[in-house]
Amino acid sequence: MLYANPLIVLIGVAGVLGIILALADHFFANYGDCKVKINNDEELTVKGGNTLLAGLLDNKIFLPSACGGRATCGFCKCGVKSGGGAVLPTELPFLSKQEIKQDIRMACQIKVRSDVDITVPEFLLSVQEFKTVVSKIKDLTHDIKAVEMKLTDPTTISFKPGQYVQFQIPGTSEYRAYSVASQPSLHDRVELITRLVPEGVCTTYIHNILEEGDETTLTGPYGEFFLQEDSDKEIVCIAGGSGLAPIKSIVYHMFEKGTDRKITFFFGAREVKDLYFREEFERIDREHENFRYVPAVSSPSASDNWTGETGFVHLLLDKYLDKDTEKEAYLCGPPIMIDSSVDLLYGLGVKEKDVYFDKF
Ligand SMILES: Cc1cc2nc3c(=O)[nH]c(=O)nc-3n(C[C@H](O)[C@H](O)[C@H](O)COP(=O)(O)OP(=O)(O)OC[C@H]3O[C@@H](n4cnc5c(N)ncnc54)[C@H](O)[C@@H]3O)c2cc1C
Ligand code: FES
Repeated sequence: MLYANPLIVLIGVAGVLGIILALADHFFANYGDCKVKINNDEELTVKGGNTLLAGLLDNKIFLPSACGGRATCGFCKCGVKSGGGAVLPTELPFLSKQEIKQDIRMACQIKVRSDVDITVPEFLLSVQEFKTVVSKIKDLTHDIKAVEMKLTDPTTISFKPGQYVQFQIPGTSEYRAYSVASQPSLHDRVELITRLVPEGVCTTYIHNILEEGDETTLTGPYGEFFLQEDSDKEIVCIAGGSGLAPIKSIVYHMFEKGTDRKITFFFGAREVKDLYFREEFERIDREHENFRYVPAVSSPSASDNWTGETGFVHLLLDKYLDKDTEKEAYLCGPPIMIDSSVDLLYGLGVKEKDVYFDKF
C-alpha cells in the first residue's frame, strides 16, 4: 500500500487553496475606486483590483515595463510608502535588501486593494505617449526588420542616443521595449530594429502583421543606457543581433555632431548575411579616421568567401584595443555576449563605471 508524504500533501493543499483564493479574488472581489498619491502631490483614481502598473498606465503615467508585466524585467520599480501589502515572492529576485528596506516595489506585481502612497522618479513622470504611423518596413536579414514610425501626436520626440521606447502591442495593454536606432536629430520619427523571436507575441506581430500605414502607439523615452556626451574618452561599442540599434543611434549622432573621439565598433554575427548595415558602417570607417568597424562572423559558410574576422566578437577586444587610453564602453545584445565582453573589458583596464549595457 502507498502512503502519501504529509509534506507533499500539505504543499498540494496550500497550492489548491492559493489558486481558489486567486480565482475568488479575480472574479468576486470588488475594491471600487482607490486613490494613488504620487510624490506627496498628485492624486490619481485607479480601479481597485488592477495592478498598480495598469492603474498608472490608465492615468498616462508610463513606468518602464519591458516584459509587459510578467515579472521578468524588473524595470517597473517605484517606492510604495503605504498600501502595497507584503512583498511578493515574484518580486524578490529583482529587489536588493537595501531596496526592500527603502520600500521599493514592482508596480506590475502590486494589486491595488486600497489607497496607495507611492514615489516615482520625476524624470519618469515626463515619459510621453506617442501616436505614430508606420512609414517604412524593411527586411535587414532573414529575421531582422527595420521599422520606421512617423510621429503624429505629438509630432516630435526628444531622446538621448541609446535610449529605448516601448511599443504597445495593438489590441492589448502589453508593451515591449525597443531601442531607438535613428539619431535624435530625426525628431519627427523613430526607427526600430526588431529581431523575430520564435513564438514571441510582439515580434510575431511586428514581422507578420504590421504594415506600412498602420497606426501604432509608443511610450518613451526610457533608459539609462545612453551616450555620455560630456566625456572625451575613447569609445568601444560592442553589439550582436538587434543590439546594433542603439549603437547605430550613438554612432550616427556622434558623426552628425562632429566628433574627434576614437570609436571602435565590434559587431558579431553568425553568418556574413547577418551583417546588416555593413555598407553604412564601412562607409563611416572609410570617411572618418577616428572610426573603426570590426565585424566578426562566428560561422561563415564556404560560399561567403569571408576574409574578415571570425569567431566570437569579445575574443577580438585584446587584438584591437590598447590598454593605455581611458575608455568608455557601450554594449548591447545577447546576455552571454555582454557578460563575456564585460569581463574582458575590465581586464583591459576599462573601469566598471565606464561600462554601459542593455542586455536583450
Ligand atoms: C531595454 C531593452 C531594449 C530592447 N531593444 C530591443 C531592440 O532594439 N530590438 C529587439 O529586437 N529587441 C529588443 N528588446 C527585446 C524586446 O523588448 C522583446 O523582449 C523581444 O522583442 C521579444 O518580445 P516578444 O513579445 O516577441 O516575445 P515574448 O512573447 O515576450 O517572448 C516569447 C519567449 O521568448 C523568450 N524571449 C524573449 N526575448 C527573447 C530574446 N531576445 N531572445 C530569445 N528569446 C527571447 C521569452 O523568455 C519567452 O519565453 C529590448 C529589450 C530591452 C529590455
Ligand atoms: S517586472 Fe517587467 S513590468 Fe514589472
